[in-house]
Amino acid sequence: MANSFMEQMAFPKGWLGSFILKGMNIGHRKLWEGTLQGLALPEEGRILDIGCGGGGMLHRLLREYPRLAADGLDVSETSVKESRRKNRCYGSRCTIAQGEATALPYEEGRFDLAVTTDSLYWWEDLARAFSEVHRVLKPDGRFVIGLEAIDPTDTTWSSKFERMIIHAPEEIVAYLEGAGFSDVRTDMFPKTRWVNGARFIARKAGRMEAASS
Ligand SMILES: C[S@@+](CC[C@H](N)C(=O)[O-])C[C@H]1O[C@@H](n2cnc3c(N)ncnc32)[C@H](O)[C@@H]1O
Repeated sequence: MANSFMEQMAFPKGWLGSFILKGMNIGHRKLWEGTLQGLALPEEGRILDIGCGGGGMLHRLLREYPRLAADGLDVSETSVKESRRKNRCYGSRCTIAQGEATALPYEEGRFDLAVTTDSLYWWEDLARAFSEVHRVLKPDGRFVIGLEAIDPTDTTWSSKFERMIIHAPEEIVAYLEGAGFSDVRTDMFPKTRWVNGARFIARKAGRMEAASS
């Protein structure tokens, strides 16, 4: 049975949605840490956060990398508003748009890195979304996915949401490879009280590789 308070985490709306997004900006810090751990980010690159929620991860990256530029995208109007508010201090370095993971409103080859955390349970067509991510990445660009729920047989979370789909790691890897990504890697998060799950890293082929294949 879906719970309307929990449902706000999937699709934040109105004042309650804003309140929950502020909470996630605190509660998801360990998830972001695990997702980004050890990744050498491009000092001057451009990154995309899909399903950016309250904008906390973007805020953190823009603070850590003063020459980085970032886009955030979210389907929820409330998330877009909260992300813009959180990142207003970065001016033109940060742009937030409302939109769907399956139809990214960006030109081909725009980003060095695309990242998403705890969002793709609600993406309706993973094959299409991943090929969109592949399209908007530069050659050699990376796509990083952080997820706290990766066991489809565990209904602790999925029973609380209207249409949450938990994908098994092998399924995610298969969708990534199907979209043309290579060097796909899965890192399980060490199980702690604060974070569980896994991150996935995939790479778009470089120019030379793409030309020779
Ligand atoms: C649980 S929140 C996670 C927010 C943020 N990534 C974080 O780690 O705090 C999920 C977010 O994904 C967004 N979302 C869900 N489905 C989406 C889709 N198909 N395209 C873009 N955003 C989506 C929701 O609106 C929500 O803001």
